[in-house]
Amino acid sequence: MNEIKNNTVLSGVQPSGDLHIGNYLGAIKNFVSMQNNYNCFFCIVDLHAITVKQDPRILKRNTLEVAATYIASGIDPKKSVIFNQSSVSAHSELAWIFNCVTRMGWLNRMTQFKDKAGKDKENASSGLFIYPNLMAADILVYKATHVPVGNDQKQHLELTRDIAQKFNRDFDCEGFFPIPEPIIEKDISRIMSLKDGDQKMSKSDLSEYSRISLLDDSDEIIKKIKKAKTADTVMPEKIEEILNLKEVNNLLNIYSGFSGIEKQKLIEQYKGQNFSNFKSDLSDIIIEGIKPITAEINKLMKDQSFLLEILQEGKNIAREVSQKTINDVYDIVGLLRNET
Ligand code: ADP
Ligand code: TRP
Repeated sequence: MNEIKNNTVLSGVQPSGDLHIGNYLGAIKNFVSMQNNYNCFFCIVDLHAITVKQDPRILKRNTLEVAATYIASGIDPKKSVIFNQSSVSAHSELAWIFNCVTRMGWLNRMTQFKDKAGKDKENASSGLFIYPNLMAADILVYKATHVPVGNDQKQHLELTRDIAQKFNRDFDCEGFFPIPEPIIEKDISRIMSLKDGDQKMSKSDLSEYSRISLLDDSDEIIKKIKKAKTADTVMPEKIEEILNLKEVNNLLNIYSGFSGIEKQKLIEQYKGQNFSNFKSDLSDIIIEGIKPITAEINKLMKDQSFLLEILQEGKNIAREVSQKTINDVYDIVGLLRNET
């Protein structure tokens, strides 16, 4: 790690299934662009994943697959610390302290809990309810100042800021925890389902046709984009009209995210046409964007010893940095550690 860099980045992705282009455009692409200017920690948040049911036989593989995806997307293990959350116990230790700082009322307002718990709230795990406290611990145990995430995580980041402020105030240690800033890309911070412009693209959607996985091959991508919902009109001329056509707007965001071409330029190119040319070009752009990543993930997954080594190195650095924070926190809170 480069000591000259003052600011620290932490972000995490759950190993809860194949990652999709929403995870990539909304979060991982941003991680890559930050690694030259910040001290970066990229975590695979396996403890968050088990707040809902996971199959223990595939959780470890999914954890390695997220590590492979990070690296295949351009995160350089020599520049950034890559590790899995459960291997660094300081996260859970600080989360417990935060369980005692966060107010029930704050957690009751979290929309992700409401979405994930659904109608059967009584049957949700208590871990799912206190999930944001663990997320705050992930961030603050490294005193991270910047957190690149998709828009769906904004509320959790606001809670993290509230926790940092309350801790600093309650224990009279102003400035101990930084107040972290979310880094959220504008248009691509929420890639929506290909079937429904009101739902975010998600690993847990039952329909495969709602998302494009980073492991999809060219034929699957072409098929999914062909089936993606658009509108009964042609491509409108004005951006204001597009905003009312949620599904079209979403496809334009994806196009723009992969090609770097501004949405306005794309609209000029396709205005007045039906969506078949647009869709065919969009498939090409996505295939071009993810093909090298898919190939690299598949290659890395064949040599798991390399991935295990990266996680081992990451864990060692993460343990060292986070232990210092935990020692200070225990002291601040007044917990006796009678160690020699
Ligand atoms: P998921 O919600 O698919 O289970 P995670 O919770 O592991 O994915 O999210 C990992 C990162 O990807 C987070 O920063 C999250 O904000 C971002 N992300 C997830 N879904 C989307 C999406 N549809 N559009 C943009 N970013 C997303
Ligand atoms: N809650 C995030 C999500 O569902 C994942 C996450 C856990 C995370 N800990 C984090 C993201 C810390 C950023 C920083 O996407």
